[in-house]
Amino acid sequence: MDTIHIRGARPLRGTIPISGAKNAALPLMTAALLTDEALKLTNVPALTDVRSLSRLLGVLGSRVERVTGPNGDTLTISTPEITSTTAPYEIVSQFRASFWVLGPLVARCGTAKVSLPGGCAIGARPVDLYLKGLEKMGAEIDLVEGYVLASAPNGLKGAIIRSPIVSVGATHTLLMAATLADGETVLENAAREPEICDLANCLIAMGAKISGIGTSTLRIEGVERLHGATHQVIADRIEAGTYAIAAAMTGGDVTLEGASPETFDAALSVLRAAGAGVETGQGHVRIFRNGERLQATNVVTQVFPGFPTDLQAQFMALMTLAEGESEITETIFENRFMHVQELARFGADISLHGDKALVRGVGKLTAAPVMASDLRASAALIIAALAAEGETTINRVYHLDRGFERLETKLGACGAEIWRAKAQ
Ligand code: EPZ
Repeated sequence: MDTIHIRGARPLRGTIPISGAKNAALPLMTAALLTDEALKLTNVPALTDVRSLSRLLGVLGSRVERVTGPNGDTLTISTPEITSTTAPYEIVSQFRASFWVLGPLVARCGTAKVSLPGGCAIGARPVDLYLKGLEKMGAEIDLVEGYVLASAPNGLKGAIIRSPIVSVGATHTLLMAATLADGETVLENAAREPEICDLANCLIAMGAKISGIGTSTLRIEGVERLHGATHQVIADRIEAGTYAIAAAMTGGDVTLEGASPETFDAALSVLRAAGAGVETGQGHVRIFRNGERLQATNVVTQVFPGFPTDLQAQFMALMTLAEGESEITETIFENRFMHVQELARFGADISLHGDKALVRGVGKLTAAPVMASDLRASAALIIAALAAEGETTINRVYHLDRGFERLETKLGACGAEIWRAKAQ
C-alpha cells in the first residue's frame, strides 16, 4: 500500500485550486440514470469514488466517457437503456453514495436490487429513512441477503414525506425518485446542503419541476420524462475548508482559488474566531496567520449551514496547537472520533467524553508514523503532519484518494515537503 510522507513545520504559502465537490459529483452521476439522453457533467474531480461509481453505472447499462481537462474532468453519461437493475455488493460496499442509485432505478424502471451500503466507518449509518420514504411513494421494500429489493411496478406516486432527522443521502435519493413520480412530492425537513441544491439545479436543467431549493421543504412535481443536460459541479467546500485549516495550522498564507466562501461560511467564522485572517471574494478565499498563536475555540457539528461534520477531524487537528482548551461536539455521527488516538501519536492532548472531545492545546507536535482510518480523519493527519516537527509517515492513504484530488501536488506547490512512496 502507498504511504505519504511529510516533513513538517513549514508554513504553506501560495495558491491552491479547489476541485469540483466529490459529494456533489456522486449524486449528480446517479441522476444520469433518470434519462435515456446524455448528461454531461463538467468540473468532476478525478477520485477513486468517481471511478468506482462510473464502474457501477457501466454495470447498470450506462456508457461513461471521461475527458480530462485542466479544470477537472468532463463526464458524459448516457443510459439509453437500463440493462441491469442490480447494484452488486462488490461495488456498493466500497462507498456509500453508490447506494443512491436506488432512487433513480426505481423511478425509471419500477424495480431495483441494491446492496446495503458500506463507506467510511464513522457510525451505524442506517438507510431506514430512504426506505420509509420510498414506501410512502408506493414502493414495496424487502431486505434479502444484504440487498434492498424495491418494487413499484406501476410507478412511484407523489407523497408528503417528513423526515425525523435531516439526512443528505435520503434527501438526494427521494428527490431523484420524486422527479419521475406521479403527482407532487413534498420533502419536509429535507437536507439543504449545497450539494443538494446542486443536484436540484441539475435536475431542473434535465426538465424536473422543483421548488424550495435551499430550504428544508422541497416540492417536486413529477414529470413524464427527463432529458439530457450539461451541468458544472460546484466547488468542494470540504476540500477548501481542509486547506483553509492547513494554512491556519502552519501559520501560512494561502489563497483558495475557485472556492465558494458562502458554502463553508460557518467554518470560516470559526477560523476567524480562533484568530486566523480570512478574506473572501467572488470565487476565492485567502487564509493567513502572522505568527500569533491560535486561540482555543469550541465547535458543534450541525447540518448546513452549521459547522460541517466533514471538517470536524481537521478542526480538531488545528486545535491541538491552539492556546487553551477547546470542546468539539459531534452531533451527526456517533463514532467519528477515530482520529483522536492517531492525533495523540503527534503529542496532542485530547480526551473523549461521549459526543465531546476536549482538546488541550500543546506547544508543539512531533512527527510519528500514523494510520488513516477514514477519509476526513486522514485529512486531519495530513494537517497535523504539516505542522509537526520531523518526518511523518501516513499509512492507508487510499482513504485520501477517495476525496482529495492531487493532494501532494497542491500542497507541494505551497511549499509543503510532501511525497508519496508507491507500494512495491
Ligand atoms: C453525506 O453522508 C456525506 N456523504 C458525508 O460525507 C457527510 O458526512 C454526511 O452527508 C453529513 O453531512 C456523501 O455525500 C457521499 P446523512 P450521508 O444521511 O448522506 C443518520 C465524506 O467524508 N441516518 O446526512 O450518509 C446517519 O446515521 C462523507 O465525504 C439515519 O439514521 O449522511 C447520520 O447519523 C462521510 N437513517 C445522520 O443521519 C438514514 O436512513 C446524517 O447522515 C439515513 C441517515
